Order: sequence, then C-alpha cells, then structure tokens
Amino acid sequence: MSLFHDNPNDYDMNAAATFDDDDDDDDDDDDDDDDDELLHGIFEDQSKGKRLSSELKSIQRKMSAEKAKLKIDEEDLLEDAMVYYKAEEFYPTKRLRIVYTGQSAADTGGVVRQFYTQLLCALSNQFFQGLDDRTPIYSNDVVAAGVMKLVGVMVVHSFLQGGPGFPIFSPAVYNYLCKGDLQEAVKTMTTDDCSLHMQDLITKEQAHTEESKGLENSAFHYRMATHTHVSGYRKYFGNRFADLSPATTTEDQIRDLYNDWANKYDEDVVVKALLVCHRPQAECLDAAIKQYLDKPKDEVKIIDCGAGTGLCGAELHKLGYTHLCALDISPEMLNEARKKNVYQKFICAPLNSDQNSEVNTGEYDAMICIGTLAAAHVKPTALVEMVRMIKIDGLLSFNIRFGELERYQPMMEELEKEGKWVNVAKETIPHFQKDDMPKTSSFFVYKILKH
Ligand SMILES: C[S@@+](CC[C@H](N)C(=O)[O-])C[C@H]1O[C@@H](n2cnc3c(N)ncnc32)[C@H](O)[C@@H]1O
Repeated sequence: MSLFHDNPNDYDMNAAATFDDDDDDDDDDDDDDDDDELLHGIFEDQSKGKRLSSELKSIQRKMSAEKAKLKIDEEDLLEDAMVYYKAEEFYPTKRLRIVYTGQSAADTGGVVRQFYTQLLCALSNQFFQGLDDRTPIYSNDVVAAGVMKLVGVMVVHSFLQGGPGFPIFSPAVYNYLCKGDLQEAVKTMTTDDCSLHMQDLITKEQAHTEESKGLENSAFHYRMATHTHVSGYRKYFGNRFADLSPATTTEDQIRDLYNDWANKYDEDVVVKALLVCHRPQAECLDAAIKQYLDKPKDEVKIIDCGAGTGLCGAELHKLGYTHLCALDISPEMLNEARKKNVYQKFICAPLNSDQNSEVNTGEYDAMICIGTLAAAHVKPTALVEMVRMIKIDGLLSFNIRFGELERYQPMMEELEKEGKWVNVAKETIPHFQKDDMPKTSSFFVYKILKH
C-alpha cells in the first residue's frame, strides 16, 4: 500500500529509490544547473511575447537520448515515483523508461504515457482539493517537506516526455503559476480557493456582517443556511427559502413549502443545481453498517428522516437495502417518494422533540437524514427523538451544511456527554456541482449507546 493513501505527511523522504541508469557513464557536474534551468521560468517570458509551445520545444531539445529505467509497482505508483524524483541520481534531462513489475510490456512510449496519466491523477487526488477547479491542499508540512516542489517537477517532466499536462487548476492558481503576478491572481480568487476552515470562517463573517447591517432576522438565517451562495439558491430554487426563520417559521409553513415544491423538486435539485450528495452519503452509511452492524443488508431496517422524494432511499436500495421507511412532514414529497418503489413503509409526521407514536423505541438499525437538519426545518432538540428511534449499537447518520453546524453542535455534544451516542465517522462529502452552490457538506455517523 502507498504511504500516501493514509497521510501525505508520513512520506519518508529518505527512502531509497529503485531505479537504474541505462547508461553508467552519465555523471555530470552540470546536472544541478540543468535541473534549475529546466524547471524554472518556463512561463516567464510570456510577457515578452514568447509562446509557451516554443518554450517547451526549446526545453524538450535539451532532453538527452539517455534513459533512466524506473521500476514501478502499480499499487505503490505514487510512492515509487516520489522516491525516484527525490533521489540524488535524478537527472531531469534523462527520459524515463518505465517497467511495471509483473508486466512484460515493452516501453515504446505508451507505457510512459500510461505511467504519467496514473501519476498525475494520483497527484491531483492526493495534493489538491476542490471538485472542478482545484487548489493545492493547505498543508505546511507538505510544502516544508518539499513535496509540492516535487509535484511540480513531476508535472513538468511529464509534458517534457510526451505525457499528459495537468489542466486542473482554478483560475487563481493558474494565473499565479503562469503569470507569477500575485495581485492579478488574487483578483481571480474565489472562496473555493481557500482552505475548508477558511471557507467556514468567511461564511460566518459574511453572515455576521449582514446581520450587523440590520438585515431582517429571516434574511440573516436564510444567508446562514445558504452561506455564501445566496444567488445560487435563488437561481435554482426561486424564493422558496427567502422568508424562512428558525425563530418564526412553523411546521405548517415548511409542509406547505415542500408540498408545493414536490413535483419539481428532483428536477430543480438534481438536474438544475446538480446535487450529487446522495450516492456518497449512502456509501458512507453502507461502510459504517458493514463495520458496526453484524447483519445482512436485507435485514437492516433503515429509517430515512426527511426522506423527501426518496433520493437517498433510491441510493440505499441500489446498495442492497430493502427494509426502508420514509418519514417526512410533507405528504406530497412522500407521494413522489412512493413512485421510486424503494420504501416499504411511509410515515407522514413532523420530526421534532415529541415522541412519534408510529416509531417504537429502538425500532430501526440505522437512520439517514439528508438536507433536513437545516435552518427552520428540524430543531436541534429533535436529535433526542432521532436517537430514540434507533437500536442500541445502531447507527444514526445525517448531513449538515457549513454555516449551520453551530446550531446543532451544542446538542450533538450534549448527547455525547450524556453517553447516548459516540461519533464513528465524519466525512466531507461533495454536495452540489454548480459553482454558485455549496460544494461540500459534512456527513456524520453516530453509534447509539443508550436511550
Ligand atoms: C431539503 S429536503 C431533503 C429531502 C431528501 N432527504 C433529499 O436529500 O433529497 C428536506 C425534507 O425534509 C422535510 N422536512 C422539513 N422539516 C421537517 C420536519 N420538521 N419533520 C419532518 N420532515 C421535515 C421536508 O418536507 C423535505 O422533504
């Protein structure tokens, strides 16, 4: 297994490389200079009108005919590559000849391209964040260990040898790398370029500023709920959420809102706003069930709270879960869920701190609750009732969007202090795939310890 799968900071920078020179006679005092010349300032002359392709060609001409043979174990591809590029014997002018262990294919160029395609994909996954436009992960350790510099070396070496480019960067990162102009790059920055922690702080600061500008309570909470993506919410969902306030919105109003939306909900959230969270969330719960519940899938009873039109249920059903119950306040949303033919039982009721007479204590092995622990929807005190519905040792999972966690956190901590549940997983999950909508939300899984 690659060390990088667990933690990029664990990488042993002193590990020995497993590569051979094809040519024994290639030590050269100038190689360090070649390294600098090859790897620095590729883009610098663009302002003087030099084109990137001609720069690349001129650097490519400096590549020698000598080759270094690199043995790659496909399972440890990233680690093997890191060792090679870190080693003192690495000469950037030498082309690579790749040999995959256990594979006999002769390297006529295709193998090198295959190697760099896999390598750049692994680098993108390991050291960059974001969905479409990616930004380097925020880790001082990774930078201090010289890993980001190595990443740059590998990317440049790829396209010098006919491998793929690395077209993943956000406009701000691209502008900074290619033009070297920090001020220009900053102008193209968005919150998605910031660390997740910083994104959360920005969200809170914006909400706070708007509150102190004297916005009405409802508008403030609407912004808290939709954090920095007010225009996106308006664009895809209209004004449905504009008047919501946790302090004043009633259950009847929420029921009316979703009854009215029911027959357009899937189209608005899935087709227009590209909501993609259901599959990964179902998979997270599935993984926790496999780890913590000792039952075959078709015996696991799951309640989907705030099931809506059944988008979660559909994903759980695809994963093999057949004992599904949908609970929702809106009869029209449940009617849409019925059409999906994945639930065995339907409960039309509000989720609040009252005990629901249709659900026995500890009746379900697991719960999923997506998009429902949200401003003006379900109050934090309902978590107690949600815990009651689940068996001791069962699992309770839900998502919360950034900017809303602070409303639920005190109750989540209280339940932990009381020994009623323990957190067994917290994942950041892709949410919407539109730039003007929240890109991620937090998904939690708790194990129930007592009622
Ligand atoms: C944003 S939708 C999410 C639906 C579904 N879970 C999904 O991920 O597509 C929120 C759902 O929660 C339901 N809901 C809101 N407040 C509720 C409450 N207090 N009790 C029960 N259901 C509620 C709404 O009717 C709606 O179907």
